Amino acid sequence: MKAIIQTDPDNPRSLELAEVERPTLQPGEVLVKVAAAGVNRADLKQAEGMYPPPKGAPETLGLECAGTIADAGDTSREVGEEVGCLLAGGGYAEYVAVPEGQLTPLPKGFSMNETAAVVEVAATVWSNLGMTAGIAEGDRVLIHGGAGGIGSFAIQLCKALGCEVAVTAGSAEKLEYCRDLGADILINYKEQNFAEELAGSCDIILDIMGGDYLEDNIKSLADDGRLVVIALQGGAKGTLSLGRMMPRRLTVHATTLRARPLPMKAAIVADTVKTIWPLFEDGTIAPTISRTFPLAEAAAAHEYLDSGDNTGKIVLTVGD
Ligand SMILES: NC(=O)c1ccc[n+]([C@@H]2O[C@H](COP(=O)([O-])OP(=O)(O)OC[C@H]3O[C@@H](n4cnc5c(N)ncnc54)[C@H](OP(=O)(O)O)[C@@H]3O)[C@@H](O)[C@H]2O)c1
Repeated sequence: MKAIIQTDPDNPRSLELAEVERPTLQPGEVLVKVAAAGVNRADLKQAEGMYPPPKGAPETLGLECAGTIADAGDTSREVGEEVGCLLAGGGYAEYVAVPEGQLTPLPKGFSMNETAAVVEVAATVWSNLGMTAGIAEGDRVLIHGGAGGIGSFAIQLCKALGCEVAVTAGSAEKLEYCRDLGADILINYKEQNFAEELAGSCDIILDIMGGDYLEDNIKSLADDGRLVVIALQGGAKGTLSLGRMMPRRLTVHATTLRARPLPMKAAIVADTVKTIWPLFEDGTIAPTISRTFPLAEAAAAHEYLDSGDNTGKIVLTVGD
């Protein structure tokens, strides 16, 4: 089969289509013929050598895709079934092996491209805001990077659940995009200090900056507030004032989806499909695709995501 390989480990853009072995199925896995694969910032980091795949995961990039089952292995799935897939790797290819628990149906009315754009974000955002932080109607939620792939989904989900949404983004155009998706409070992180704007008022913060924002995130939380860190774009280390946290009963979570054990991923996928797929199917949450590229142009897709020009997701189309 054809897949994207990195020809030079020191050059993150040396991504080329090459002939490689088709994956061999392990017990409980199905082989999926990929039609579309989502591009994630983690793929850029992996190509830069900074986010290696977990043990046992494919070296090939690609954390989510959509396609049809080509071999059901030892599962009771049907060949030809259309599925979305949460992956630990391997999506930038014509075929990928997927644990059955990480398969989703296509949301009714969604194309392959649209499904490939939502599986990872939906599972990430729901597992963190819903299953971990216990989001509830009326909460004020701060979403950092509101115009990105994660942020654009998170805004729509929070509004659907009856929350008030504050976002940070780096330009007036991106903040307008967030407003169009439903955001209530718009903060330009290049011009404003979000902790001054929101001091002590946020029930939940979905954070992608890590160390650089830790102190200001803590200052922004309300009593019983929850900070959920899902990326370290601003570094892994910061100063955490326990003295500030204790009287207000604050909680800090830090999670990744990719490294979780298979049963935990299967539980997340099941809960995400149960909770989020109806919101896709009734139009409450729309997929946000910024651009699509053919698989062979994975390097250009990475360049585009790296440029920061995207609002929402980038998708690679595979085959016809
Ligand atoms: N832990 C997990 O399981 C998990 C799962 C999926 C994704 N992630 C991580 O989540 C992050 C977001 O993913 P994505 O797909 O949304 O990536 P993306 O589309 O590339 O978005 C990145 C965002 O970072 C924002 N940003 C950059 N500097 C910022 C700052 N100083 N303050 C606030 N926002 C800032 C950008 O905002 P502007 O463009 O407005 O500057 C942009 O919206 C990535 O780092 C990704 O690796 C983690």
